[in-house]
Amino acid sequence: MTFEQMWRDLDPIGRSASSGGYFRQPFGSAERECHAWFLEQCAARGLEVESDGNGNTIGWWRTGEGQGVLTGSHLDSVLDGGAYDGPLGVVSSFAAIDLLRDRGFVPQRPLGVGAFVEEEGSRFGLACLGSRLMTGAISPAAAQELRDRDGVPLPDAMAASGLDPSLGPGRLLEGVGVFVELHVEQGRDLVDRGAAIGVASEIWPHGRYRFDFTGEANHAGTTRMEDRHDPMLTYAMTAMAANEQARASGERATFGRIEAVPNGTNAVPSRVTAWLDARCATDDSLEKLVTEIGRMGHDRAGRDGTGLSVTAESVSARVGFDPDLAGRLADGHDGGAWPIIPTQAGHDAGILSAAGIPTAMLFVRNPTGVSHSPAEAAETADCLAGVEALATSLERLAGEGATE
Ligand code: GLV
Ligand code: MN
Ligand code: MN
Repeated sequence: MTFEQMWRDLDPIGRSASSGGYFRQPFGSAERECHAWFLEQCAARGLEVESDGNGNTIGWWRTGEGQGVLTGSHLDSVLDGGAYDGPLGVVSSFAAIDLLRDRGFVPQRPLGVGAFVEEEGSRFGLACLGSRLMTGAISPAAAQELRDRDGVPLPDAMAASGLDPSLGPGRLLEGVGVFVELHVEQGRDLVDRGAAIGVASEIWPHGRYRFDFTGEANHAGTTRMEDRHDPMLTYAMTAMAANEQARASGERATFGRIEAVPNGTNAVPSRVTAWLDARCATDDSLEKLVTEIGRMGHDRAGRDGTGLSVTAESVSARVGFDPDLAGRLADGHDGGAWPIIPTQAGHDAGILSAAGIPTAMLFVRNPTGVSHSPAEAAETADCLAGVEALATSLERLAGEGATE
């Protein structure tokens, strides 16, 4: 089956007719349909399927000896996301295995295609939940407590989708000697460089922080402006301050999700909950940025007669990918070395790297540079260049004399 055929199979699953964006919520019907497709692709290639109790799955081409070379990515999406973030890595992995087999390549070690669950944290709020559980970066006890927006606990959501949850590190990681994740680029670095393929150098530290603003519910008409304790106002001023602060220091601060209670047009709200996504070049600067935004929020709350509490929900430290491995994949290509570039987006590759697995990432050019939006894009020619690049990388890692 070609890359294009596989892409067409996945294309309608979870796509909104109105926006053209995708919502493949972890353990929801669209994501499970993608997962069923994943299992079909494994079966069609004779890959041996191994799953853990967290919902992560690997299809192994059992060949050669020793720990395997894992590729793959994730199948879940953000709310109204693009088609490529995640699935491009999975589809490209199957296509790369087909290419290697067509070439008669004989791997010296097993080759696996993986699908990690809840990479986006769109349902349970914690980024890369599947790979964190698999590597022990989050305890099963903490994961048991996670709830989605409707209050459904993680194990219940898994059970409702037909899984038998057994959270925590299982044996899946033991088979993994090295991981390469191919991903659509989520910015315009490769466009600006005129390159179709790049290799990751690092992932910026990033985190999600819940800001709970409390105030006093009251009538929108009869309450004089000076008598209000309006948490929406405190939120709005905090969001402006966060934007200014991040701009001034070349960092990122985004309030992308809010909830207001009671969310009525003609009432001052009693409570506003807003989630800050913050990203910086260093762990120190991330901590400083979030502390400063919190300080400004508290300062504003003091003036508005409102309250604020800040809770870190998901924090990912800086990841520097193995520079030797990145260099080994980037060098020695017709047309020159692939550029090695940083990213501000989080990935399961970052979690596996932090767990001590030699890890690399390949990026495929995205002409819009847009991601986490229906406008996310990649040209078919670049996707096919990505398949070729991944196949070449797997050859280097699983061929004769591979050392990683
Ligand atoms: C995941 O794509 C993230 O960076 O939030
Ligand atoms: Mn992704
Ligand atoms: Mn994403």
